Amino acid sequence: MKFASTVCAALLGAATTVIAQPQPEDQSDWVPGAYIVELESNESPDVFYAQLARDNGIEAEHRMHLASSDLFHGASFQVRNVSTHDHSTLLAAVKTKAQVRAVWPVRTVRLNVGTPTHHDIPAPASSGARGVHQRRNAANETSDTFSPHLMTQIDKLHAKGITGKGFRIAIVDSGIDWHHPALGGCFGPGCLVETGWDLVGDDYNPPGLPNPDADPYDNCVGHGTHVAGIIAAQLQGNEYGFTGAAPGAKLAAYRAWGCSSKATTDVLISAFIKAFEDGNDIISCSDGMLSGWSDDAWGLVSSRIAAAGVPVVIAAGNDGGTGIFQASSPAGARGVTGVGAVQNAIFPVFVSEGEYAVSQQSGGGAANHSISSNSYGFLAGTPAPPREMKLSLWAVMGNSSSPTEDACSPLPDDTPDLSNKLVLLRVPDSQKTRCYPIDQGENIAAKGGKYMAYIVQSNVTFEEQYIYVDGIEGVISVVPFQGAQWIDALNKGMDVTVTVPGPNATATTLMELEDHITGGFTGDFSSWGPTWDLLPKPQLTAPGGKILSTYPLPLGGYRIMTGTSMACPLVAGVLALIGEARGSLKDTNLVNRLISATAEPKIWFDGTKTYPGTLAPVSQQGAGIIQAYDAAFTETILSVESLSLNDTEHFVGEHTFSIENTGDQEATYVLGHMKTPTMYTLQPDMASPIKASYPNPTVNAWAELRFDADSVVVPAGGSANVTVTVTAPSGNNVNTTLLPVYSGYISVNSTRDDEHLVIPYLGAAGAMRSVPILQASSSYLADFGSPAAAGSAYTLPPPDPADLPFLNNPNKDPIHIPDAGKMPNMLLQPILGTRALHVDVVVVVSDDDNSDLKNGSSNANKKKTPTGIPCLGALAGYPQTYVSKSEQRAFFQGMMADGTVLPAGSYRLVASALRVFGDEAREEDWDVVETVPFVVSYDGTATGNGTAARPAAATQA
Ligand SMILES: *[C@@H]1O[C@H](CO)[C@@H](O)[C@H](O)[C@H]1NC(C)=O
Ligand SMILES: *[C@@H]1O[C@H](CO)[C@@H](O)[C@H](O)[C@H]1NC(C)=O
Ligand SMILES: *[C@@H]1O[C@H](CO)[C@@H](O)[C@H](O)[C@H]1NC(C)=O
Ligand SMILES: *[C@@H]1O[C@H](CO)[C@@H](O)[C@H](O)[C@H]1NC(C)=O
Repeated sequence: MKFASTVCAALLGAATTVIAQPQPEDQSDWVPGAYIVELESNESPDVFYAQLARDNGIEAEHRMHLASSDLFHGASFQVRNVSTHDHSTLLAAVKTKAQVRAVWPVRTVRLNVGTPTHHDIPAPASSGARGVHQRRNAANETSDTFSPHLMTQIDKLHAKGITGKGFRIAIVDSGIDWHHPALGGCFGPGCLVETGWDLVGDDYNPPGLPNPDADPYDNCVGHGTHVAGIIAAQLQGNEYGFTGAAPGAKLAAYRAWGCSSKATTDVLISAFIKAFEDGNDIISCSDGMLSGWSDDAWGLVSSRIAAAGVPVVIAAGNDGGTGIFQASSPAGARGVTGVGAVQNAIFPVFVSEGEYAVSQQSGGGAANHSISSNSYGFLAGTPAPPREMKLSLWAVMGNSSSPTEDACSPLPDDTPDLSNKLVLLRVPDSQKTRCYPIDQGENIAAKGGKYMAYIVQSNVTFEEQYIYVDGIEGVISVVPFQGAQWIDALNKGMDVTVTVPGPNATATTLMELEDHITGGFTGDFSSWGPTWDLLPKPQLTAPGGKILSTYPLPLGGYRIMTGTSMACPLVAGVLALIGEARGSLKDTNLVNRLISATAEPKIWFDGTKTYPGTLAPVSQQGAGIIQAYDAAFTETILSVESLSLNDTEHFVGEHTFSIENTGDQEATYVLGHMKTPTMYTLQPDMASPIKASYPNPTVNAWAELRFDADSVVVPAGGSANVTVTVTAPSGNNVNTTLLPVYSGYISVNSTRDDEHLVIPYLGAAGAMRSVPILQASSSYLADFGSPAAAGSAYTLPPPDPADLPFLNNPNKDPIHIPDAGKMPNMLLQPILGTRALHVDVVVVVSDDDNSDLKNGSSNANKKKTPTGIPCLGALAGYPQTYVSKSEQRAFFQGMMADGTVLPAGSYRLVASALRVFGDEAREEDWDVVETVPFVVSYDGTATGNGTAARPAAATQA
């Protein structure tokens, strides 16, 4: 479930001052003591490890070699004696080594596969799957009718025979079920999945070490198999008659997630490097981690691969609910193609198949007794139909047009006996009418009814119904058009006899519903950019909501999935098509400019309604939905992909770009401006700053654009420069303290061939540095969600210095927060991301005999926080770098980052966060929040033998 943590936060915080906000699905945690290091090119990791041991007493155990000819030279390692080396002293020691270029902590990255609903997967093959609605006429294989392809012009390229031939796409994911007939059915040279590597093995569960092998086969996760089908599913062997975007391309599978769906950044970097070294033409990876910083290790390697001539396509993330500024890594890295998702125009559902017959009313033995027989699709509810039944349809609603009140009150006296009928009724609008399916079930059961058929009320909400009412024996749901046909026949005085198959005889059909509500618009789940340094992200969008593709045979063979994970591979496939059409993809910068310029921005849909005439913000949709044919064949090349105006402190208002005409005719280009809503990052009208969530509040103000010419004439083969001067939105209605982010599109319309090109632009009409990261009102010593009282007392299990401190990332899974009320913890709710987050411990009074500690204050607190507050040093787990805006908790477990066990006593925590664009050396660039003092005692004594009771790790999801 997507925002599971929101629900819990709301439950936990019922009586608190905290505003429940959507929490992202944080896919990442730190691996304690594990680091990635980049070394000078001629240096060996072994020499470096030896130096660490000799100079600093640090025992580094080699994890992985991370080396590629020109890209990256380094390694990852695990510090064995981690408890005697806190993160900051360790980083400092590593950084002073002459051969070290950079060092980063290793993070774990989860793959989110979700749980399929009944209509996402076909019934088991044993029941005889049939793809009647989708199966294409084999005589016309050149006509591509797959909706994600129609939305992106892929069908037009397929019609020209362009299928990605000659290009190989590396998929870094959970592996591929290459046994699948629609994915070629074999692995190795000559097969669709031509090469690859399993970097981890089935049982890989970080931080344990991987167990690589040569076969990237996946039969337990499925995500990579779905991605593979979106890129290159074949028509042959495909039960549902669709193809991938680039069925002529080859695939290479790099399995970085085993059956646990968890990987680490060093494994992923290693997979990217191997994919690059193996000579693949494109790298596609449908995952990432919350960040918003474009220069962490994985992002950096991705940028370098892209710069070296291999496009890197990455899913933007599924944290749209948290609103603007939720870029992930590596999608947010420079030069990388970050992909958001639009909803499919078609909502495909797997339904069970039954039959129905329509006949003239037989009453009075009428003569013309004509019969037509048809099939229909249904979704079994609870209770499911227990056996095959032939029932005559009876509609509750009669001629009533009010869809909300079918059987919501007792049925009239003249209602017939319903025991042999299938009672047709509509799903109530329970919020409005307070009538629930259980009420309907009771009213129907009161008339002897046993079987109910619900007509769902929209093409986009096909859900099972649950009726727990004595007497009700079977419930099914049918889609609106089916219900309408049946009502129509009944209204014409016909008899409708419906056969509901029993549970064992269910054939599966794929049904395609037209989605005229969300179809084509950016999904509310699709993560928003930009990065914290205002790099426009994502680059563009592609269909990612409700996508049919292949799935491992043991898991059903096909599945409908939703996410930017599904949009990313479609774009990777399109790049192969563009590569075939244009001959090369080596100029990745050009590739990104082509797909951006030719994308189609869609209008703003805020999750509830559309705003005709206003386009969706660049921070949500980038340049818009990819248009493959235009990108492959445009004759106009723009010199920029997008423009960042940066913030008010770093404002760059004037930009010059060129328009190159590669065609053989002169063209006139008309310049224009298309607006999008300006969005507030912070919630208006609050006593203290609080980040807003999706849909962020908008303000009716726009940037103004001035061009040095309204239009330019460019001769065949020539090029012309245009200078644009941007004035950020201002005026009385713009509240710059809420950090407004404005964006829009420069339109470049050519008079030739109807070319419509865009350049997205984006900037902040406020200063990033002026926004506080931490506030005392939202970051404090917490008792679950509320502030804990000063002097709160806690009895803890004795800390065990022989074991790693318990590190947590509770926003992932608050259910697993151990004793969030019983253990001192500082709730941290950063308003923006921060490059550096420190949590330091200050002793107030100690029970220890150590005289320094005993009296607390100046003597004991010998270290300093970043802004000079005397303290004991960093709490275990801190400081952290490249932190996203996710909520987290700093748990006080009696242990410091350097492994020191703190005696019983009274303490405070001090959190310091560096502002975006802040300078570590400037005190005013840090936000500092201190907790009230709290009192800690231990349950027994610290033995150090590892037997002390410890809370369960929150990271075990
Ligand atoms: C194949 O489909 C295309 C597009 O729908 C159509 O134009 C063409 O006539 C069809 N060809 C045959 C042989 O049916
Ligand atoms: C369905 O199949 C199972 C196993 O083959 C069998 O035990 C069960 O009785 C069948 N149910 C019906 C309603 O036919
Ligand atoms: C629902 O989808 C069907 C096709 O499957 C289509 O005929 C119908 O117009 C759609 N209804 C709405 C309201 O979009
Ligand atoms: C915005 O300005 C800052 C400071 O000069 C710079 O570091 C950052 O890269 C700029 N952002 C972009 C997208 O150019």
